[in-house]
Amino acid sequence: MPDSDGYKPMMSPERARSLRRWHDVAYENLRASLPTRISLLGLDLYVTEDVFAPSHGGGFQEAVVAEVKPTDRVLDMGTGSGVNAILAAAVSSDVVAVDVNPKAVDCAIANADRNGVSSRITFFQSDVFEAVDGAFDLIVFDPPFRWFAPRDLLEVSTADENYRALTKFMREAKDHLRTGGRILLNFGTSGDIDFLHTLVDAAGFRKEIFPYGQSTRDGLTVDYCTLRLSL
Ligand SMILES: C[S@@+](CC[C@H](N)C(=O)[O-])C[C@H]1O[C@@H](n2cnc3c(N)ncnc32)[C@H](O)[C@@H]1O
Repeated sequence: MPDSDGYKPMMSPERARSLRRWHDVAYENLRASLPTRISLLGLDLYVTEDVFAPSHGGGFQEAVVAEVKPTDRVLDMGTGSGVNAILAAAVSSDVVAVDVNPKAVDCAIANADRNGVSSRITFFQSDVFEAVDGAFDLIVFDPPFRWFAPRDLLEVSTADENYRALTKFMREAKDHLRTGGRILLNFGTSGDIDFLHTLVDAAGFRKEIFPYGQSTRDGLTVDYCTLRLSL
């Protein structure tokens, strides 16, 4: 398994510089959009300051809805506004949702209440799996895509220095999966997707890749996909 201490971007220095500019614009746009109210796949979400507002055209959320079964015990890693946990809770009554950002946990609790699924989700703060006990049939994670050092709490949603959290997630996920368990991961080429593939392969997961969208800004095109991982 690659080590996040020794992380080096698996792309040209020119692409890495372009992604730094992409990231800074995306961060400013996200900051300027908050607080916001979002209607998404029938949910009414209020997203507070310092919490990630879901976007990417809903492709990942649709994949979550299609994947969850009523019998699944589900973990939503990095829940943010709670969007994926709340969608999962429409199907499963056993959902756990965690985030390292305490403001995200509060925001997600309020959104679960607003959408009538509070009794089906347990929320708490956790740095990756640190406070998470037990195993799950389905783990969903829309991680920070970039490897830069976050400058504040909001930026923790899009920047994971040297992919410490992503590396830890891929190293420990197996221990939190039940037999036959699956992981749904969201990722885009505005992050180092080649590095993600090395993590997934080193952890020994089978992977299926479902592209769902693309966006272009300042001459840079980014592709988004859902990765479905199983053992
Ligand atoms: C891209 S946002 C996704 C939020 C939400 N799941 C969604 O789809 O809108 C990434 C989320 O991961 C959380 N996160 C980042 N590092 C984390 C860590 N080490 N442990 C747990 N959550 C983390 C961030 O706070 C943020 O809420």
